[in-house]
Amino acid sequence: MIRSLSVLASAAVLASLAAPAPAEEVDPGAIVALQFALSGDHKGVRASGAKGVCLKGTFTPAADAASLSKAPQFAKAVPVTARFSMGGGNPKISDKTKPTTRGFAMRMQDPAGDLTFVIISAPVFSTRTPAQLLEFLQVRAPGPDGKPDPEKIKAFAAKNPETGRQAAWLNARPVPASFAGTDYWAVHTYTLTNAKGEATKARLTFVAADKATLSDDELKAKPDSFYADELKERLARGPAKFDLVAILPEPGDPTTDVTADLPEGRKTRTLGTLAIAGIEPDATCDAATFEPVVDLPEGIAGPADDPMFAIRSPAYAVSLSRRSN
Ligand code: HEM
Repeated sequence: MIRSLSVLASAAVLASLAAPAPAEEVDPGAIVALQFALSGDHKGVRASGAKGVCLKGTFTPAADAASLSKAPQFAKAVPVTARFSMGGGNPKISDKTKPTTRGFAMRMQDPAGDLTFVIISAPVFSTRTPAQLLEFLQVRAPGPDGKPDPEKIKAFAAKNPETGRQAAWLNARPVPASFAGTDYWAVHTYTLTNAKGEATKARLTFVAADKATLSDDELKAKPDSFYADELKERLARGPAKFDLVAILPEPGDPTTDVTADLPEGRKTRTLGTLAIAGIEPDATCDAATFEPVVDLPEGIAGPADDPMFAIRSPAYAVSLSRRSN
């Protein structure tokens, strides 16, 4: 049923999806159909992260990372396939766009099981539940005049104030000068388990070694596409590095709500360093999806109680099936 959505035309999709979702039971295909429809229904691209650059690199764990997780990726250096992207399903989106998240997908490979993260350049996601995401998209759908109704968007935002946090966070900060010049957050809370069976909850962040932002004037002077060239030049000088930092929540901190950031000052542990070394052909990243829910080895698990986590798996599969057809 999900796959059949790939053949629906965008107008029909918008009409059939106009009614609000009755309960938390949300069809991931309905969300993805709206993601495609709202970004112009481009063919052969992802429903989100449509414009991006495929990469290769290496993840090298910190000496004591195995004390937190028995995943093979925390025991020895492993090869990585990765992809930076702009949020949304428009492959022609300007790299200057604000408030849009930059994305970072990565597969840390190991024969015992890949470790995949698909993460964004903000500490929070835009919605707390799939039903809220569906409505967030529905209120942005164009009406009979071809434009979204600003009153509907306002009413939704007033009723769901947490859905404004991501845009507010991004609007308060300058646009990154480089895909490699900004930090990325996994936003979900993971559980790390070591060989003794000891579990630690962690919010995982990739912290850029070389942060770079653009002032408003610098941004104005840039063309719409500059990230890919900037990355080529940067990588010709040496790898772009990120530390994988686990932020450890304390009792009472939010661990199931991706619209809520952790309070400042929480303890951290550095689990390793990701070095992006070069550009790969798009085909290396496009043949499959980066699967953040299923592709987790023993020693790291996603949250069972965060409703935004599990639904990513069928949503990404719908998008893959549609862009592959
Ligand atoms: C209900 C929640 C979500 C839905 C329905 C959703 C949907 C999607 C879909 C359909 C794709 C395209 C996948 C493909 O064709 O391979 C995608 C890609 C992406 N998503 Fe999500 N997403 C969700 C949550 C998130 C969250 C929480 C994050 C970040 C923390 C995120 C970050 C990304 C990124 C970076 C990409 C680009 C991946 C790539 O380069 O291959 N998404 N998302």
